Amino acid sequence: MNRREFIGTSALAAVCGGCGTFNLGAKQGRRPKPSETLTLAVIGCGPMGDYNMSAFLRDSRVRVTHVCDPIAESAYHGYNASTPHGREVFKRKVDKRYGTTATKSVADFREIIDDPSIDAVLISTGDYWHAPIGVAAMKAGKHVYCQKPMTLGISEGWAMIAAAKEHGITFQVGSQQRSASEFRVVAEIIRNGLLGECKSCTIGLCYAHNDGLKQKYTRDCTPSPIPDWFSPKDSMWNLYQGPAQHWENNAYIPAIHSPVCWRWNSRTGNGSIADWGAHHFDILQWALGTELSGPVAIENVKTDIFDPAVTNRYLDQAKTYQFDIVYADGFRAHVGDKESIGFNGLKFHGEKGELFVARGKLELPESLRHWKETDLKDSDIHLYHNINAKGCHEHDFIDAVYEGRQPVCPVEIGHRSATICHLANIAARLGRASLKWDPVKERILGDDEANARIFVKHHNGWTV
Ligand SMILES: NC(=O)c1ccc[n+]([C@@H]2O[C@H](COP(=O)([O-])OP(=O)(O)OC[C@H]3O[C@@H](n4cnc5c(N)ncnc54)[C@H](O)[C@@H]3O)[C@@H](O)[C@H]2O)c1
Repeated sequence: MNRREFIGTSALAAVCGGCGTFNLGAKQGRRPKPSETLTLAVIGCGPMGDYNMSAFLRDSRVRVTHVCDPIAESAYHGYNASTPHGREVFKRKVDKRYGTTATKSVADFREIIDDPSIDAVLISTGDYWHAPIGVAAMKAGKHVYCQKPMTLGISEGWAMIAAAKEHGITFQVGSQQRSASEFRVVAEIIRNGLLGECKSCTIGLCYAHNDGLKQKYTRDCTPSPIPDWFSPKDSMWNLYQGPAQHWENNAYIPAIHSPVCWRWNSRTGNGSIADWGAHHFDILQWALGTELSGPVAIENVKTDIFDPAVTNRYLDQAKTYQFDIVYADGFRAHVGDKESIGFNGLKFHGEKGELFVARGKLELPESLRHWKETDLKDSDIHLYHNINAKGCHEHDFIDAVYEGRQPVCPVEIGHRSATICHLANIAARLGRASLKWDPVKERILGDDEANARIFVKHHNGWTV
């Protein structure tokens, strides 16, 4: 059997989106031999997809064969003027890298799912698409690098975990802070008690792309004509929205439907709490060793969410907020937006001083001034460190695929980090001052209305 013909033992047909079929079944992720190339498709051709794809293009073990986006090429430049959106833009880049014209440019991701020649996918769409595409890809035996936050809501994480397990998938969540040494070192310091007793932490979350909200196109909430970059218009517009509930008359609202702007409405994203919480809560859990469980409560929730005078029903995410993440042993992380906290990062408060970490920045207390990572003893806790990947999260994923193992941020961990974001958003949206959470049963306790929100509703015939 040719390796490109590799398929699992049984094939089933599953209907997706009510508008097409693709083959699913008990396929297992293919593990290429060291001498073989891993074929990869990029699904979601926006700025983050570009960032991740660039790393894959630098890796000689990988061949990017397909790029996929319902947008062929848009005039919209999002938050990074040098990376316009669309599959044709990505195709040009990949073709140039390989000196070819053969890169396949695909509008509908179901073609990727159905294609047995593709070994792995990068999912860099908006959050609302991660689970439906991720589960379909895993069922087709494809390894997955999925952007963070891994899910739009808690129940999607269960489906992602089940699919990864069943199909032997290597899954990397795009929480790349785990591949950066400063965050690992902090987690090792806390885990090994080097800060003495540590019972609290302060976390500031950046309101990413807040500047974008000040710009004309991201404030425009007027139902508008569907842009020409969706072509054919109706089918591509529907594919772009996918499982997200449509607005009246299936309207295009620039402030929430322009690429990047799906973040600002709860049907498609989870605002700044998830955008940056997925990163910093992930590090919090790594440092506490709770990455496969979670907190027992969200408390002291205060937010200006849903103030129609400040925003409107389209822009419905929290902009300023404060809440505490509380663990069973009494550890408490106080979280707020960067403006009120004063920084974007994590500050741990221990007996032996304060420790601050942010991207590219590590401030140790006086007590650890002369401490070096190499001071860790063999008997100390050493966390995952892929020296070979040299801090590259994408490289770590590829290593893990070849070696038949999980990378630094597997599906279970991505699910638990995203869960904290979702719990905070549920509390904020329902105006609850606190929520109790059972991290074993994964249920909100004593509040049926809030608990109902852990189950994601998918629309327009799409499902996980
Ligand atoms: N790890 C990080 O530091 C980091 C930073 C920024 C963004 N992100 C994450 O990356 C993801 C993408 O973010 P972005 O800012 O690039 O978003 P974006 O909206 O700019 O780009 C997403 C692209 O996905 C495309 N898309 C929509 N539906 C699709 C479908 N059915 N099939 C294929 N493509 C589809 C859109 O047309 C768009 O071009 C998000 O999950 C975001 O949270 C992570």
